[in-house]
Amino acid sequence: METLRIDERTRLLVLTGAGVSAESGIATFRGSDGLWENHPIEQVASPEGFREDPALVWHFYSQRRAGAKDCQPNAGHLAISEWERRLGDRFLLATQNVDGLHRQAGNRRVVELHGNLFTTRCARCDRRPFEDRTEYPEGTVPRCDECGGRLRPHIVWFGEMLEPEDLFRVEQFMSEEGRLVFLAVGTSGAVWPAAGFVDEARELGGETWLVNADPAENGGSFHRFVRGKSGDVLPILLEFT
Ligand code: APR
Repeated sequence: METLRIDERTRLLVLTGAGVSAESGIATFRGSDGLWENHPIEQVASPEGFREDPALVWHFYSQRRAGAKDCQPNAGHLAISEWERRLGDRFLLATQNVDGLHRQAGNRRVVELHGNLFTTRCARCDRRPFEDRTEYPEGTVPRCDECGGRLRPHIVWFGEMLEPEDLFRVEQFMSEEGRLVFLAVGTSGAVWPAAGFVDEARELGGETWLVNADPAENGGSFHRFVRGKSGDVLPILLEFT
């Protein structure tokens, strides 16, 4: 396998998707066991769906909380955490995952682009999002104890914008001095703006890698593609960096 070279000038930006958590037992979105299989995306992961049937949305996210709460980071997460330990502020992780496994694996320089499954916020007032691991009983919609409005998962739904400061942090990291290496892991490259990071990295002269179990929609944009499971491939790439 080709080696991912990291030297004293290298700045490593890692982007992860659901594939990096698959070996921890968390379903991906678009695989055959896809999470969306039994729920039309629009109904359970969109502002319209929440307006239409907030109890269904909370049932979907309560199920995901139940499914993720006992999962542990796998070898792929641990390799990514080791890269942060070695590189410090020359490392940044942008994840599309909301399962919290990267922090559990030890990463701290993490941008959770799509929010976090175990965080809730009020859909009406601007109280700060708060940690919430509750699996709400089917048919219920929790209310804000400050304004009485509906609470919602602190997740970026389809049709919603990512936090501008999250995107800025990624762009800022990519454009700083040094030898940029962009490594995408376990993502189908189907959802923007994350799917476009590879193009930005290339425009900045970065070396771009994809580690994925299957070819990705934006796979053609990467200099290197290593096909395989992240839990197998990342420890090998780490060993040679
Ligand atoms: N190792 C590496 N890659 C894997 C593994 C594995 N063990 N298992 C699955 N994969 C790959 C699949 O081949 C697939 O290309 O991971 C990718 C997962 O793709 P998706 O299910 O589309 O997940 P993701 O790319 O994270 O989706 C992006 O879309 O549904 C929205 O907001 C949601 O964050 C999500 C976003």
